[in-house]
Amino acid sequence: MTPACSRVMAVTDPTMPLPLEGLLAGGCPLEIEIGCGNGRFLAARAKKQPQTLFLGIERMLSRVRKLDKKARRLGLDNIRILRLEAFYTFYYLLPPHRARAVYVFFPDPWPKRHHHNRRLFSPLFIDALWARLEIGGTIQIATDHQEYFSDTRKRLAADPRFAEIPSMERDESEQTDFEMLFRRQSLPIGQCAFRSLPHTETPLPPLMIDESDEPRERG
Ligand SMILES: C[S@@+](CC[C@H](N)C(=O)[O-])C[C@H]1O[C@@H](n2cnc3c(N)ncnc32)[C@H](O)[C@@H]1O
Repeated sequence: MTPACSRVMAVTDPTMPLPLEGLLAGGCPLEIEIGCGNGRFLAARAKKQPQTLFLGIERMLSRVRKLDKKARRLGLDNIRILRLEAFYTFYYLLPPHRARAVYVFFPDPWPKRHHHNRRLFSPLFIDALWARLEIGGTIQIATDHQEYFSDTRKRLAADPRFAEIPSMERDESEQTDFEMLFRRQSLPIGQCAFRSLPHTETPLPPLMIDESDEPRERG
């Protein structure tokens, strides 16, 4: 991997899959964290596994900048950051069956029922997740939101493309910022993990724009 000054990836052609292969020398493993925040987990893993490329997807600019700064300060050349929306990235931009692991720690829970359609773990996201994971690749999930946790776990457990496995062990250095906050408050944290299984490949369906997503006047 060629060290770059900034670890933030430029998307030069959004009509094409991301040019990750140039970064993945010799077919090195790719691991992706969605909503990586300030990157505490990602940086700790990247330090431990220098031969793996770690891609953080985060849409909040201040967090992207913090992680970029941290990766440069620590000389972590195996981190790349995408300031993009994760569903879009999975659906359109990532190469097929390439990620060895995907991590989703403390995703926005969107607790109100009428906001549930904004949650990451929709049926279409799960299709895209399977299509981007290597066969045998893993998804690790943690959240403090019990209802979102059991809903997501149920969805994946009922999906023939995934099998539940024990969650990974993470030491203190691999806890995320939100996790440390929730642990300090003694909030219960749900964790689960799944492995992707071989399954008939079907193309991701074309997306329909839900009218309820159209901008509306407030009030
Ligand atoms: C609750 S925070 C958790 C951050 C970090 N994982 C942690 O545990 O400290 C959720 C993060 O996911 C990011 N995020 C939420 N939805 C996203 C999406 N669809 N695409 C990219 N980033 C997203 C938010 O900007 C935020 O930084």
